[in-house]
Amino acid sequence: MRTVEVSLAERSYRIRVGGSLLPRLGSECSQLKLGRRCAVVTDERVGPLHSATALQSLAAAGFDPVLVTVPSGEKTKSLKGVAACYDQFAAARLERKSFVVALGGGVVGDLAGFVAATYLRGLPFVQVPTTLLAQVDSSVGGKVGVNLPAGKNLVGAFHQPRLVLCDLDTLKTLPDREFRSGIAEVIKYGIIYDAAFFRRLERSLDRMLARDPSELAAVVARCCAIKAEVVGQDETESGLRAILNYGHTIGHGLEAISSYGKYLHGEAISIGQVAASHLSAARLGMPLQEVARVQGLFERAGLPVSVRLSAAQRRQLFDAMRLDKKVSAGEIKFVLARGIGHVEFGLAVPEVDVNRALELVQG
Ligand SMILES: NC(=O)c1ccc[n+]([C@@H]2O[C@H](COP(=O)([O-])OP(=O)(O)OC[C@H]3O[C@@H](n4cnc5c(N)ncnc54)[C@H](O)[C@@H]3O)[C@@H](O)[C@H]2O)c1
Ligand SMILES: [Zn+2]
Repeated sequence: MRTVEVSLAERSYRIRVGGSLLPRLGSECSQLKLGRRCAVVTDERVGPLHSATALQSLAAAGFDPVLVTVPSGEKTKSLKGVAACYDQFAAARLERKSFVVALGGGVVGDLAGFVAATYLRGLPFVQVPTTLLAQVDSSVGGKVGVNLPAGKNLVGAFHQPRLVLCDLDTLKTLPDREFRSGIAEVIKYGIIYDAAFFRRLERSLDRMLARDPSELAAVVARCCAIKAEVVGQDETESGLRAILNYGHTIGHGLEAISSYGKYLHGEAISIGQVAASHLSAARLGMPLQEVARVQGLFERAGLPVSVRLSAAQRRQLFDAMRLDKKVSAGEIKFVLARGIGHVEFGLAVPEVDVNRALELVQG
């Protein structure tokens, strides 16, 4: 088992990464001085696969868990989903000292975390992420929230978990397309922070795709460590944390104009990161050979690197990017790379350059 520390003064916590960790959930929680009663929030897909192990482990450690199951999928990350959880928490008589376990992907983590942040003015919570994306990204850092009809993640809070347990064995049941989607975030960490890690991925991607346990352990732990370092320096996203959005301005725009159905998040940000790399070459002189390496790695991971957009869709994409939360004073701000491993954030880019980068990823 590997341990990554997230250093945030009194809100510090540990991320455990390894195999066979879910059966140890109860004993890990015992060390946190929590109440006996807890709610394990999961979704309809993950519940049948993994909730029995979680509940047994908690009960064996003396906790009194109740299972709350929500439908799977992004639609559950809504105020309606929040209300359903509140009702079940009340029915289960959760108290001030009770805690919440989020067992699932990013949808369950964001939803259960937001419910934990607000029920009884805040309950402690533990993240047990079961998708690659959730293990390397959404479970770490304390951003929780839900969507509104007007847009994604418009309601939320910063609420740090007390513990993150990344059981790599839970990934065995994850569908291939979801696994590859998570790899888009993994590659992102190499581009934004760690050129040596990017080279490692170039060497070992095939082992990663085969979900080799020791490769997975090293890669997930390194991604968590990078996210922990970034969040540790900028908990509430006033600066550095923006680098985690590399490729996301265009990626979120693509998700929005395809009404959140065509692409998984990782697929959209794969195209977004390739486009951001072309933009980086134009604006910051990222070497073209490195742009090609970025594109090559996403391709090898089976992720899309191009998109066919009509002129009308191109206009829609710009409108969507202007609505994105990263816009301030009407200017679209980008994270761009000087080279693999070195990025800068908060860069205003003329639309003609964005258009040219989009032409370069036109399928
Ligand atoms: N809070 C943050 O910092 C942050 C960061 C990135 C993404 N997110 C959010 O995360 C969400 C996406 O998360 P996701 O990609 O994990 O999606 P998800 O939670 O919808 O999970 C994807 C699918 O896989 C299923 N699943 C999950 N674990 C499984 C397993 N072990 N075996 C079989 N099936 C499994 C789920 O039921 C679902 O159908 C988005 O809402 C996004 O906004 C949040
Ligand atoms: Zn992302």
